[in-house]
Amino acid sequence: MSPRVVARRGVGGVDTARGATLDSLVAAAQRALGLKIGGPAELTLVQADGSQWSLHPLWLRERCQDAASLDVRTQQRLQDPSDFDPELRLLAVAQTAPGVFRVSFSDGHEASFRAEDILAEAALAPNSHDCPAPQLWDGALTDLPRLRWRAQPSEAELLTWLEAFLTLGFVIFEGVPVVPDTVLKVAARFGFTRETNFGALFDVRSTPAATDLAYTAIALDPHTDNPYRAPVPGIQLLHCLVNQTRGGLSTLVDGFAVAHALRQQEPQAFDILTSTPVRFRYVDADTELTASAPPIELDVTGAVKAIHFSPRLDFVPLFPREQLDAYFRARRLFDHRLRGPAFGIRFLLEAGDLVMFDNCRLLHGRTGFDPSEGLRHLQGCYIDSDAPRSLWRVLRRRRRQAAQVRRSA
Ligand code: OGA
Ligand code: ZN
Repeated sequence: MSPRVVARRGVGGVDTARGATLDSLVAAAQRALGLKIGGPAELTLVQADGSQWSLHPLWLRERCQDAASLDVRTQQRLQDPSDFDPELRLLAVAQTAPGVFRVSFSDGHEASFRAEDILAEAALAPNSHDCPAPQLWDGALTDLPRLRWRAQPSEAELLTWLEAFLTLGFVIFEGVPVVPDTVLKVAARFGFTRETNFGALFDVRSTPAATDLAYTAIALDPHTDNPYRAPVPGIQLLHCLVNQTRGGLSTLVDGFAVAHALRQQEPQAFDILTSTPVRFRYVDADTELTASAPPIELDVTGAVKAIHFSPRLDFVPLFPREQLDAYFRARRLFDHRLRGPAFGIRFLLEAGDLVMFDNCRLLHGRTGFDPSEGLRHLQGCYIDSDAPRSLWRVLRRRRRQAAQVRRSA
């Protein structure tokens, strides 16, 4: 699936790529699905439109849902699947109820499958974890995903918030109480605080003898936070308590969109940035953290998985001269795009605004400000990426179950 660069306008009514796809898949599965044996080692899932999935017998055997195969309460497998017969064959398949198929395997085991469950899994892209797919954006994104914060949102509202976050990589909440530590309460709505040597939360304001350049008044170029940690914090929240300065605009850029553009326009530079291990380092009196990562990290399917970029903290190892020439050129090409107006957006965070963003996809920064104009004080914290995704799946499951109850009532 190749990502498209889409300059999105507004969040209302967004159709979340993956969610919509799965809903329509399930609807299609309910219309017509068949399972037929194509040979002793092949079961074929056939849809009404003629599309087919060929199911390996062991792939299906591992998915048996009966009490002999699975602990029904935990949904965890009771048998080690490596002990299944490597030559396992299929003996018979019969439809026992609409959409339900009973399969007999050559090891004597029999199990029932709902065709729509098989389809939902068969149709998942290999690197998909069944969440709304990112919709890439650039500097033309004008209607920002601004959401009214409510401490007790309805499930439908929470689902809308999560979909905006998962597709765009960020949301801005307005009306968050201007009370210190509230960032932790907002974080708790979505996940678990990732505590670090900065504490459960950190104060971003200009201070003398700052331990990080974020705690000064200088501009911060687009960066991902804490690339020197293992693992890198997945999501960052920044809550504005006071901003009395005219500068200090927040900046965001979709690193996946920039990486995608680089891949198209400068494939060699892209390859260098995906294959050069860069060392990132943070040092203060009590801490010394280092981690290595390529600026553009790919997953095993070749899709962009994460961006690791912080011009204040990156140190490339001493490679041979030509390799370093190529690396420095590639970094420059990437960085100029990250900083250029074609890709980035900027906005003022006012007291009561909170921006939550994916720290592995988006790069953030700020323009400089003049501390003599007044105070600027943000509180930030991190959470891991998995919990909001889990929450989205749980809410979607509940919504589907409720729809099923309504249909059968
Ligand atoms: C940070 C940071 C942005 C800001 O603290 O990591 O990037 O708006 N701050 O001050
Ligand atoms: Zn930062």
